[in-house]
This record gives sequence, C-alpha cells and structure tokens, in this order.
Amino acid sequence: MTLLEGSIGVEDLVLLEPLEEESMLKNLQLRYENKEIYTYIGNVLVSVNPYQQLPIYGPEFITKYQECTFYELKPHIYALANVAYQSLKFRDRDQCILITGESGAGKTEASKLVMSYVAAVCGKGEQVNSVKEQLLQSNPVLEAFGNAKTIRNNNSSRFGKYMDIEFDFKGSPLGGVITNYLLEKSRVVKQLKGERNFHIFYQLLAGADAQLLAALKLERDTGGYAYLNREVSRVDGMDDASNFKSVQSAMTVIGFSEEEIRWVLEVTALVLKLGNVKLSDEFQANGIPASGISDARGVREIGEMMGLDSKELERALCSRTMATAKEKVVTALNVVQAQYARDALAKNIYSRLFNWIVNRINESIKVGIGEKKKVMGVLDIYGFEILEDNSFEQFVINYCNEKLQQVFIELTLKEEQEEYKREGIPWKKVDYFDNGIICNLIEHNQRGILAMLDEECLRPGVVSDSTFLAKLNQLFSKHSHYESKVTQNAQRQYDHTMGLSCFRICHYAGKVTYNVNSFIDKNNDLLFRDLSQAMWKAKHPLLRSLFPEGDPKQASLKRPPTAGAQFKSSVAILMKNLYSKNPNYIRCIKPNEHQQRGQFSRELVATQARYLGLLENVRVRRAGYAFRQGYKPFLERYRLLSRSTWPRWNGGDREGVEKILGELSACTSEEVTFGKTKIFIKSPKTLFYLEEQRRLRIQQLATLIQKIYRGWRCRTHYQQMRKSQILISSWFRGTMQKKRYGKMKASVLLIQAFVRGWKARKDYRKYFRSGAALTLSSFIYKSLAQKFLLGLKNNLPSTSILDKKWPAAPYKCFTTANQELQRLYHQWKCLPLSFHISVSLPPFPALPPSSMIIASAPTHSQCKKFRDQLSPKQVEVLREKLCASELFKGKKAAYPPSVPVPFRGDYIGLRGNPKLQKLTGREEGPVLMAETVRKVNRGNGKTSSRILLLTKGHVILTDSKKSQAKTVIGLESVAGVSVTSFQDGLFCLHLSEISSVGSKGDFLLVSEHVVELLTKMYRAVLDTTQRQLPITVAEQFSVKFKESNVTVKVTQGPRGNGNGKLSCKKKGSHGLEVTV
Ligand SMILES: Nc1ncnc2c1ncn2[C@@H]1O[C@H](COP(=O)(O)OP(=O)(O)OP(=O)(O)O)[C@@H](O)[C@H]1O
Ligand SMILES: [Mg+2]
Repeated sequence: MTLLEGSIGVEDLVLLEPLEEESMLKNLQLRYENKEIYTYIGNVLVSVNPYQQLPIYGPEFITKYQECTFYELKPHIYALANVAYQSLKFRDRDQCILITGESGAGKTEASKLVMSYVAAVCGKGEQVNSVKEQLLQSNPVLEAFGNAKTIRNNNSSRFGKYMDIEFDFKGSPLGGVITNYLLEKSRVVKQLKGERNFHIFYQLLAGADAQLLAALKLERDTGGYAYLNREVSRVDGMDDASNFKSVQSAMTVIGFSEEEIRWVLEVTALVLKLGNVKLSDEFQANGIPASGISDARGVREIGEMMGLDSKELERALCSRTMATAKEKVVTALNVVQAQYARDALAKNIYSRLFNWIVNRINESIKVGIGEKKKVMGVLDIYGFEILEDNSFEQFVINYCNEKLQQVFIELTLKEEQEEYKREGIPWKKVDYFDNGIICNLIEHNQRGILAMLDEECLRPGVVSDSTFLAKLNQLFSKHSHYESKVTQNAQRQYDHTMGLSCFRICHYAGKVTYNVNSFIDKNNDLLFRDLSQAMWKAKHPLLRSLFPEGDPKQASLKRPPTAGAQFKSSVAILMKNLYSKNPNYIRCIKPNEHQQRGQFSRELVATQARYLGLLENVRVRRAGYAFRQGYKPFLERYRLLSRSTWPRWNGGDREGVEKILGELSACTSEEVTFGKTKIFIKSPKTLFYLEEQRRLRIQQLATLIQKIYRGWRCRTHYQQMRKSQILISSWFRGTMQKKRYGKMKASVLLIQAFVRGWKARKDYRKYFRSGAALTLSSFIYKSLAQKFLLGLKNNLPSTSILDKKWPAAPYKCFTTANQELQRLYHQWKCLPLSFHISVSLPPFPALPPSSMIIASAPTHSQCKKFRDQLSPKQVEVLREKLCASELFKGKKAAYPPSVPVPFRGDYIGLRGNPKLQKLTGREEGPVLMAETVRKVNRGNGKTSSRILLLTKGHVILTDSKKSQAKTVIGLESVAGVSVTSFQDGLFCLHLSEISSVGSKGDFLLVSEHVVELLTKMYRAVLDTTQRQLPITVAEQFSVKFKESNVTVKVTQGPRGNGNGKLSCKKKGSHGLEVTV
C-alpha cells in the first residue's frame, strides 16, 4: 500500500492529523509542489491543476492502474476511472463522474483523461474501436465550437456538457449521448478584454487554405472582423491552424459527410461576415429615424452564401413586422435596433449551429434501441464564475454549480449521515453548509429568481431590467443570501461595490454580484420573426434547417419557453439522471489565478476548499464508513469466502454476513458495523482486503472447476477411446474369424468335392466304356469345329481385298486354324480364279474350301468376265474336268484325288520319243493319252506292262519293248467300259463282237490315270462316233474272254487305296477275283 509508505504528505486526507484547514492546505501544497496533484478523500479525488504536462499519463500508467486496486498505487484519476468502470462492469451499476471546480481548475482535462482511460481498458475489436474513436473525437469538435480563451482559462468551456457513454454487458462501448447546456452565445458578438471569441473562428481563418477561404469569401486576417477581438488573436501554446486540421479530421471520423463539413464552415463564416455588416442612420419621410446598410457588397456576399436575396436580408435586418390579430405593421428599426437585430441573428445562428453539431454527433454515436446498456456519465460543466461584471450567463452557470454542490452535499454529507441514523449506527453529527436555501432562492417555482424573471418577461405593460430588480428587492428583502443596494440601504449598509442595477447572491462558493442589464432580453431569447423567416427562406440547407420556426406554416403565436426556464428544466433532468447513478467525484482545484505552473496560492485554494466542503467531507468520511451494502447483495458477493455459506446458505442474510466476516481476521468489530439492513465497513483497506480474498477464492474455485472439468473431459475422452478400441477390436476379430471360417469352409468343400468325386469315379468306373471319353471328346471337338465352321460360313467378311476383318476364334484351340483360314481366304480374295485352275502353273494351287466358294459365289458378271478371260486351251481343260466330274463324281473313289491333278495326257514322254511316235502309224491327229498301263492276262490273270496310246480314233496297245503296235482298237469297236468304284485303276474295255480284235475278247487293263484316260476316251468316242460310251461302275462285271464270259469280282484289299498291287486269281473258268 502506498497510502502510508514513502508518500508525500498524506495521500488520503482522511488520515490527516490534525484535521484542520491549515494542515489540509499544507498537505495539498506539499504534494502539489512535489508534482503530486491528486489526493483522496476516501473515494473522492481532489485534483489540483498542475498547469504543466506531467509524466503520469499514457498506456503504461493505464495498464498499471488497471491491474491494481484503488489504494495500491498513488492517488490518480485513472484509479478513480478504474473503480467506476469496474463497478459498472462487475457490479452492474450505472456510474456518473462528477467533475466540479471553478473555471480553469482542470475539469475538461480531467474528463478527457477519464474518457481516454475508459477507452483504453474497455473491449477491443473493429466495431468497438470505431465507437471509441467517435466518442473521443467528439471532444476536439465540441471544444472548437464551444470553448474560448477567457481571462481565467485559455481553453474555457463555454457550454455545459454531460456525456453518457453506453456499454454492453461485457463492458464494451456501444455509443453515447451528449447533452449540452446553454452555450455562452453573447461571446459571439462581444468578448471581454483579453478574451477571444470561440476557437473555431480563429482556427478557420488560420487553418483554411486559400481556396477554402476564397470559397467562404473570407480573409485570413482576424483584424478584419468586427466580431473578433482585435487585441487577442493568438493564444500561447495553441496552434489554431493545426487544430483546424484536427477538427476537420475529427468531424470525418465522427461521420460528418464532406458536404456537412462544408455547410458547417459556411455557416461559421456567415456569422463572421454578419459582424461586418455596417448599419447607418437613415430617416423615413416622416422624419422617424430608420437604418440602412452602408456596405452593400458585404450583404450581397452574405446573401449569396445564404442563398437569399440581399434585399430580403436587408429588410429583415432593418425593419420589424408586428403582427396583430387583424393586420401586420412594418416598422423601421433605428441603427441601434438594427445592430441589435444583426447581433441577435449572429448569436442565434451560432448557438443553433452548435446544437446542430451536438445532435449530429449524437446521431453518429447513438446506440440502437433495445440493447441492454450500462451507462457511465461524465459531467464537465462550466465552473463557478465570479467576474467583475456578471450577467445572466454567470447567473445560470453559478446556479448550475450550486445544484451540483447540492448533489454532492446530498449524497456525501447529508444522505450519508442520515443513513447512519436510519441504520441505528451511533453517530455524532458533522456540521456542513447546506446550500438548499440558495438553490431555492434561485429555482423556487413561485418565489425563485428565475420564476420572477419569467413572470417579468411575460407580464404585460412596461417591462425592464429595473422593474425586474425592483421585484427581487421587494421579494427577497429579508433573504439571508440576497443583497442589493436597496436591501443594504434598508439595513444601513454602505457598500460601494454594489451598483444600483445589481443584486448579489451569497453562493456556496462566494458572493457574486449580478448586473441585471439585459436579463430580460437574454431570458426572452427572442429572435425577431422577420429574421427567422428570412433565414428559413434561405437556400442554404443547413442554415434553413436551423430556423424551423421561420416556416410560416409552423408559425405559432405561443411563446417559446424562456432561456431561464429551459435551463432550469434541463438542470432538473440532469440532477435526476445523476441521482440515479453511482456518483464518483473529482474536485478540481485551481492553484493560482495566473495559469502558472508551480504556483500555489493558499488563499485561493482555501476559498475553493471551503466552498467545496472538503474539510466536512473529510470529517464525515473519517467518522463514517467507507463502504456500505445491503446484507443480501453483500452475502451474494462474498459468500464464497466461507465454507459455511458456500456453496449454499440456508440462514438469513445478516447471519450469513456475520458468519463470513467472523471467519476473516481483518474484519474486526472496529472495522465492521452491522446496521439494520446494511453492513458498514469502516476503512477502504478492509473492503480491498475482502475484494482480494474474493479474487483469490475465485481463482481457487476456478481452479477447482477447471480441475473437475479437465478430469471429466479426460475421463469421457478415455471412455470414448476405450469404447472405440473395443468396437474396433471386436470388428477386427469378427472379420478375422469370418475370413478364417470362409477359408476353412472353402477348403472343406474342396476336399469334400475331391473325396466325393473320387468316390463317385470309383463307383462309376465300372460303368464307363474304355475310349468313351475319347469318343465323347472327339464328338465334342467335332461338334465345336462344326459350329465354328458353320458360324464362320455365316459370318464371312466381304470379298473386298481391303477388308481384313475376320471373326475371332470362339475357342483357343481353333486359333491356329482360324488364322490359317483367314490367310487362305485373303489369298483367295487376292488371286483371280483363273489363277487357281490354270494348267500352265503346276502344281495346282489349293482351291478354297468348297464352302467358301459357295459362300462367296461369284456374281454373274464376275463369271462372265472370268469366262471371257479363258483361252481355248483352258476351256478344253475345264471341259475335260467337267466331263470327268459328270462321269465319276460320287461314283468312283479315284475321282476326288484326280480333281486337283491337271490332265497331262502324255505320261511317257511321247513327244521326245520318235520311236513311240511311230506306233501311232498313220494315225492322224494328236495322241490324246499316252501312258504305261498293265494288262491282265486273260489266261492266268497275271499283269504285264503295255504302252497305251489313245488317239481320236483308236486305242493302241503296244509292248513297250517293241516298236510295233501290238493291238489297235478302233474306238467304234469299244462297246463300253467297266470300272470299280474303288480307288484302283482297273478297267475293262468291252469290245464289240464284230471288230477284228473283239475276237480275242475284252481287255482288262490297269491304269494309274484311269479317270483321265476314260474321260478322254469317252470324249474321243463321242467326238468320233457321236456315241456316248457307256461306263459302268461296279464291283462285279462280266468280261468276255475269247468265246466265254468271265465274271470279274473286285474286292478291296486291306490297304484299299489303289496304290497297292493288284492281284488276280482265277476262280474256275468263269471267274476271276481281283483284289485291289
Ligand atoms: N491534468 C492536467 N495536466 C496538465 N495540464 C492541465 C491539467 N488539467 C488542467 N490543465 C491545464 O489547465 C488548463 C485549464 O483546464 P480546463 O480547460 O480543463 O479547465 P476547466 O475546469 O475545464 O475550465 P472551464 O470551466 O473554464 O472550462 C488546461 O488548458 C491545461 O493547460
Ligand atoms: Mg472546461
């Protein structure tokens, strides 16, 4: 705790010894001189203006004060702001921060520090930051338009400001509402010596670039403007130009559009220019004085900027229309009246512009309806003022300060002491000054000064400030806080400082003498209707909107409330608002009148301390209790500190609180007192002790909850994992077993099948014939082959040689055959048919299978083309083959092998053998056939070799060794031919009986080319004798040998292929058995 250790003086005046004014001032001075500007009186903060920048602000200090409790660090405005914010956030109590003190004491600076602290510690995020920025940026704008240099303060707030900052349940700012109180608008047209007009006028002239100045029709020199005090145009340490830039950017941040900023500056410029409107004396025709505008250019410029005809403006400034029920009367104003009208217009425009700015800011920062809000109000209102010449403004300002003092007295001194009484706590009354009587003097509804002023303003007849003063003198002649020349005279007091037109009020902060001059006017606050109507007619959108009453449709004859009444009601609303919130006080003290650092004027501070009631405050605080709270909420907050009350307490609230505090060593009977409904805690230390204990306990409980939660989470996680593991392994095992079972089942089935098959084969083996399988398989194979070939026949591809398509083999075993067939088919397609049958190209190429020829039978035209290509020789060969086919096809087994063999005719090389050629003798024509045959001997059946020549007319048989023909048989004598159906070459030439050779009988011959020989013979007989030679195919035939008939019976030998030797056996005289 810094409260005692190493502190300069005492940090909390409650600890002051001895408790006297002198020691208090000493303490404040000691601290001030050591740059300790803040001192506590319990939870009230006393702040002495340092008039210098101290290194005790900024983010570092904010963090420090955020993390510590109220008494842990040195007294600081941040500590107070922190307490207020924490109470708002965690105790859900709306707060208000009441900053009081006289002008220049540092109220505005304090309010900015509070706002910057709250902005730094409350929530973060894009949205929240933008709200914070808007709230913070409202300050420079309002200061520019509402603050001015006065003799007491270079940056004096000339308006009252109460700002509600609204937070959500998490303590993040949502927005706010600013309420402004009575701007000191008289400053617009007139300032005291050494004072300035509102900052914005100087900022505009210094900071606006040339282009903007030209657009606003302004000149940079402040000396050119009647409304700006020519003596003081600059303030030390204040850079108007750069402030102008800040104001512009602040307006943008708040949400003013570019157009709105332009309007605001235009209206501000208009006010400046109005001040320069020169009015001169004129006289009407009847000699009555009137006024006119001598500077036409200035009015024209104003008219242009307003969007109003300059004549209209002139009329509004220099004349006044009086409307009665029946008629309207226009009266001319004299110069003084016109000047008054001009100034009234300028003041009204400016004050309405200020209100418009406040409303526009409120529009930007307002919070949506329906959101649950906590509110922190910051009140920075003009401080108590005692000037040389105090007017209506000072009167209302001081009235407001009086009311604030009343709040302080009510809540800290009066209410507190009354509460002790109510709660039955032994209490020795502390005397204090109750300013209720002064408040009553001013605000009493029937008999207050404001009520009197209103009455005077509304009263018919001649009304003036002096009639008002007379009224006051009459009414308050005996009032202890009211004085005037009249009352003094009555009491025989002689005070030269009191003027005739003055009255004095003994305020809580001192006596203030007010001059009643223009009280009536200022209270009426009326603008001639001509002026408001003219402004409403202006085209400038903002200016026009500031004068809604100028709209003739809205014109009402009802008087608007007076300025005093308005102020009184807004102060009443403010008080109601403050009473509903938890107050936090900052009592600002001004150390000297010269705005000098390090100067501490005891007298000045003593006056302030006196009227602020600091000493009384300390006394009440010291005798009283720092903290009180109802038993129920106290129990609710601290019941976690005792095992008896946590987590459940079934007894009464008070008993519960007693139980808790009984267990805590720090809460001794001196520290804690039990009231009827509340618990009272003497020193803040005990409260902070309780809070600290609570914080530690919360940490313990949080750890406990965390522990239980973590345990629960781990347990459930483990159980989940276990369940999952069991599920996975059961599935895995199931799957494994299923697979194993499947394998075993398949194996068993296989074994079973084998065993059964083996058994069945064993049983059925006796029924199987040997070779059946072969038969079956060959049958199956054949049927497959048949199916394959038939299928092929039906699916033969086109005969185009380009088409290489070929159906795939249905079975693997046919693949080679299929490929071969494909190859053949393709070859066949490629070669002309003539090529296949050409005799001139032995060996004769294999013909395609008949099926193919059939399948791909040539078309009629193809046939014709083919026929036309044939040579006569080829035609002859084909004819011979055709004839052989007709004779032997399907009859003799030797025929099929003869088909592909070309008929050569000459098998003995006749052409190259002249000896053999002679055998033909005189025979004409070619030798059709020449070969070596074997002749069967008629007698013994033995065979002997002969050469057979066939010509067109004869068959010549000759011994191969002799050169002469042995037998010549004319073809006309060949009656017929017999052959066997076998493959052999045996044939019998049946001769007619009449022929010369026929007498010897028929010839039994064996030829190796029997088909060719007999075909040629048949054709020769046909050609020569026009007779068809009968060719008999039989296994048994009759042969005539000499005179007897012999039956030749031909059987096939075991070889039976015609190549084997032929054996003849005679069977008696009429039988011959031939085995071929
Ligand atoms: N905490 C502070 N640190 C440094 N300077 C300060 C501080 N408080 C006040 N001042 C100085 O004192 C001047 C006057 O303070 P401020 O404007 O806050 O007074 P005020 O009480 O608001 O007066 P008024 O009633 O006229 O508005 C400031 O401009 C500033 O220079
Ligand atoms: Mg101020």
